[in-house]
Amino acid sequence: MSKILITGGAGFIGSAMARKLAEFPGDQIVIVDNLLTGRKENIPGSPFGNIRFIKGDVNDFNDISGVFFAEKFDYVFHYAAMVGVKRTLNNPVSVLKDIDGIKNILNLSKNTGVKRVYFSSSSEVYGEPFEIPQNESTTPLNSRLPYAIVKNVGEAYLRSYQQEFGLEYTIFRFFNTYGVNQSKDFVISKFLDAALNNRTLTIYGDGEQTRTFCYIDDNVDACERIFRQNEFVNDVVNIGSDVETPIIELAQRIVSATDAQSAIEHLPPLKEGDMTRRRPDNTKMKEILNRELIPLDQGIQTIIDSLKPAENVWN
Ligand SMILES: NC(=O)c1ccc[n+]([C@@H]2O[C@H](COP(=O)([O-])OP(=O)(O)OC[C@H]3O[C@@H](n4cnc5c(N)ncnc54)[C@H](O)[C@@H]3O)[C@@H](O)[C@H]2O)c1
Repeated sequence: MSKILITGGAGFIGSAMARKLAEFPGDQIVIVDNLLTGRKENIPGSPFGNIRFIKGDVNDFNDISGVFFAEKFDYVFHYAAMVGVKRTLNNPVSVLKDIDGIKNILNLSKNTGVKRVYFSSSSEVYGEPFEIPQNESTTPLNSRLPYAIVKNVGEAYLRSYQQEFGLEYTIFRFFNTYGVNQSKDFVISKFLDAALNNRTLTIYGDGEQTRTFCYIDDNVDACERIFRQNEFVNDVVNIGSDVETPIIELAQRIVSATDAQSAIEHLPPLKEGDMTRRRPDNTKMKEILNRELIPLDQGIQTIIDSLKPAENVWN
C-alpha cells in the first residue's frame, strides 16, 4: 500500500493519472492543485474512495510543507506547472517561479522519506531540433524559453538530489498529449472547439510545422506501468507518439471529422516558441506499453463522441 501525491492533479494529465492509480484499491492518492488552470470537476471520483483533494500552491513553501509532514508520501508525481504557449510566453516571470515549486517538492521529499519523484518534463527541452527522432540520451537539449528552461532546470535538480541525497527519480518528457477534458490552451481542443461551433480555425504560419499527438490513455498507461514495474529509475523516458502530423493537416482532419463549415486561416508565424518539427524516439515507452498507440483519428473521434451533441460545446 502506497501513499501517492500528485501535484497538478486537477489538471488534464494529472487527473487522468490519479484515476489510473486509484484503480489499485490499496493505494491512497492525494491531489494538491492551486486551480490555476485545473478544475475541481476534473478530480475523478473513485470506487474505492482513495482520492483526496487539497487546494494549495506548490510554489509556496508554507502551503505545501504542512501537507508533506502530515501525509508522509511514498511517491510523488510532480505535474503542477504553468502551461499553455500563450500564457507562458506572456508571463515569463511567473513561469520561472515554478523553479521554487520544484525545489520545495525535492526538499520536502528528501526530508520526509519519499522513495521516488516522478517529474513531468516536456519535449520543449529539445527546443529547435538537432536531430529527428529526439532521443533521451543522444539528442542535445536546446531550451531557450522560460517554460523549457524551467523543465531543464527541474531535470538538473532531480539528478543532483539523486547524486547528493540518494533521492530516486524518473523524468517523463511528455510530447503533445490530448484527450477528453483538456483545456483550450492546447491545439487539438482549440481546433475542435472552433470546428464544433463552425468558427474559423487559426494557424500560425504556413502550418507545415509538425507535431506528434499522444492520446491521454497511452500517456497514463505507460507512466503507470513504469511506476508499478519500477522501470527507468534515475532515468529519462520520452512519452509521446512517433507519428508526425503537420498542423495544417491536423486542422483539415478536424474540420472533416466534425463535418464543420469552418474556414482555416493563417496568422503570421509566432516570433518564438513554435518549433518546426518534433518527434520522439519512443522505443522505451513502446517497450513498456507493449501495445499499439491509439491512432490520431480514433482519439479525435473519442473526444467528439464524449461531447454532448445537444450542447455541442467544449466544457
Ligand atoms: N499536455 C501536454 O501536451 C504536455 C506536454 C508536455 C509537458 N506537459 C506537462 O505535463 C504537466 C501537466 O500538464 P497538463 O497538460 O495536464 O496541464 P494542466 O494545465 O491541465 O495541468 C496543470 C495543473 O497544475 C496546476 N498548477 C499550476 N501551477 C500550480 C502551482 N504552483 N501549485 C499547484 N498547482 C499548480 C494547474 O491548476 C493545473 O491543474 C505539466 O507539468 C506540463 O508542463 C504537458
